[in-house]
Parts: sequence; structure tokens; C-alpha cells
Amino acid sequence: MASRSNFLLHAFLWLALATTAFSLSPKFYDRVCPQALPAIKRIVQAAVHKESRMGASLLRLHFHDCFVNGCDGSLLLDSTPAFETEKNARGNLNSVRGFEVVDEIKAEVDRVCGRPVVSCADILAVAARDSVVALGGPAWKVRLGRRDSTMASRALADSVLLSASMDLPALINNFKNQGLNQRDLVALSGGHTIGLSRCLIFRNRIYNATNIDPAFAKQRRATCPRTGGNTNLAPFDSTPAKFDTAYFSNLVKQRGLLTSDQALFNGGSTDKLVKTYSLNPDTFWNDFAKSMIRMGNIKPLTRKQGQIRINCRRAN
Ligand code: HEM
Ligand SMILES: *[C@@H]1O[C@H](CO)[C@@H](O)[C@H](O)[C@H]1NC(C)=O
Repeated sequence: MASRSNFLLHAFLWLALATTAFSLSPKFYDRVCPQALPAIKRIVQAAVHKESRMGASLLRLHFHDCFVNGCDGSLLLDSTPAFETEKNARGNLNSVRGFEVVDEIKAEVDRVCGRPVVSCADILAVAARDSVVALGGPAWKVRLGRRDSTMASRALADSVLLSASMDLPALINNFKNQGLNQRDLVALSGGHTIGLSRCLIFRNRIYNATNIDPAFAKQRRATCPRTGGNTNLAPFDSTPAKFDTAYFSNLVKQRGLLTSDQALFNGGSTDKLVKTYSLNPDTFWNDFAKSMIRMGNIKPLTRKQGQIRINCRRAN
């Protein structure tokens, strides 16, 4: 009797582990290529040193990879006769960037490892962390062992990537579909503490919104006219090259750049957390790191699934 329940308990524990922990592990490359992670860090540091915005761009690549059928490197694939690239999706076209740096990382990692053992999906996850660190943000242990897809879907990217005009219920629902909660939504939106956006994306808000600080709207209108200037850039917060809490203190002052940013502090259920983050950098850092790991766990390909691409832009 005792041994039978023992068996059942172990069977249950094994099942729980196998289904929830996947097989991602921070140590995944420790034996097979200990030089891999330092190589990624070197190139990210150099790229961010050359242009601080690149840190923001690399963070966003991991996000847009994970939200479209899991963190499988699909975003990096160029078009083939069988599918159109996700780079052409509404939320990506003329917007996501950093692919040349990813190519550079891939070439260097394969060189130091002596063969292609590190997936493009893992490169995105590590480059995102190294970018955040390079801009003064928190570090975390990146779970590794993702494999790369051989397919991409522009249609899926079109339907799941978020839009700047979303209100809070839409944002919450979109994250929920990815298995992420409201705390993840607020923490991860803090990614907008770095980087830039185009006038075309925030024009409607700075000319039409009522939940906006008038001085801030005026300041943004100066470089984003009613017509024309679509590609003019503005920072999400006052310190776009520093991973700090300015994004959240701006929201509290109705200085969010996108409708979706201000939606997090607009009288709804996330107001309190925005306020908390604006006052407690450590809480934001902790939560951001945790939520990045949760985002990085979305539907990875593991073990015999997918492949390790040789060129991140195409399947082997
Ligand atoms: C919550 C919903 C989100 C919406 C609606 C949203 C939307 C956008 C938009 C519209 C842009 C600017 C696009 C352009 O002008 O071309 C942008 C940029 C950016 N997003 Fe988000 N985003 C969201 C969440 C996130 C998350 C979760 C992260 C990362 C954890 C993130 C990281 C970034 C970064 C770093 C940039 C700047 C990129 C650069 O300067 O190259 N965003 N986002
Ligand atoms: C402001 O809103 C009106 C009505 O929705 C719209 O027609 C107009 O284009 C908007 N203005 C800007 C600058 O986006």
C-alpha cells in the first residue's frame, strides 16, 4: 500500500515537472559551449555602446518572437515560397530592428562553439537580458534550450501582436491568451522605459486624447505634426537609454506616449501597481526579471522538436 502510493506520488511529481518546467535550464550550454553566453554579451555590449537604442530594439525582438507561436525564433525567418515573413506583419513592418546584430551574434557564437549548437531563439532571449543589463537594468538567469522553428506566420503575427491603440481590457486579454497575467502586463510594459516610437503611432493620442498632460502633448507635437513626419521619433520616457522607473512616474503624470501605455494608469485595476513601480525601482526590477522568464517560457520547442538553425534568417 505504502509503496503503491509512493509510486503514484512519484509518477505525479514526474508528470508535474515534465509538463510545467519544460526542459529549459540556465545551464543548458554550460557543457556543450561555455563560451556562448560571454560571446553574446560581448556583441550586445558593443552594439549598445555604438547605439543605445539597439538595446531597446533587441529586447523587443524577443517579445515579438515569443508572442507569435512561442519563443521559437520564427520572427527572424525571411519569406520563402511556403510562408511570408513575420517581419511584414502590421506590428513589425518598418518597426522591429536589430536583425543585423542577431546575425553577427549567431556567426560569432557558432565560431566560438566550433559548430552551430546555440539556437536563434535562445540568442534572442539572452540578447534581451544583456541589453537590459547594458542599459542599467536588472539581470536574471535566462532559461535556455529552446530550438528554432522552420516556419513563420505573418497572419498569426498580425492577429496576436499588440496595437498601440489598445485599451486596458484588450491588453489584459491579449496577455491572458499568452498565459500572462496583469502583473506581467504592467511589469513587461515597463520595457518602454527604453527605446523610441514613431510619430505615426502616437499622433492620435497627442492631438486627441483627454487623459494627457497638456504640456507633454505640446512638447510631443513639436516634432510630430498633424500631417507628415510619420517616421519622426520620440522617446517613450525622458530617459530612453536608461532602464529606470521614469516610464511609470510619467504614467502617473499622464505622460504616457502610447494610448496602450496610459491605459495602464487610467482609473483601472492596474493603477496601483503602476504607482508602486513608480516609487520602488527594486520592485519593478524584480517583477520585470520574473515576467521576462515567464514570457521566455511561452511554448518553446525543445528536445527533438525544430532545429538549431545555421542561419537565423532561414531554416536549414
Ligand atoms: C503591452 C503592449 C505593448 C504595446 C501595445 C507595444 C507597442 C509598441 C509600439 C507601437 C512600439 C513602437 C513602434 C514604432 O514606432 O515603430 C513599441 C516599441 C517598443 N516596445 Fe513595445 N509594446 C507593448 C509591450 C512591450 C513589451 C512587453 C516589451 C518588452 C518587454 C516592449 C518593448 C518595446 C521596446 C523596447 C520598444 C522600442 C524599440 C526601439 O526603440 O527600437 N513593448 N512598442
Ligand atoms: C482625431 O480624432 C478624429 C476623430 O476620431 C480623427 O478624424 C482625426 O484624424 C484625429 N486626429 C489626429 C491628429 O489623429
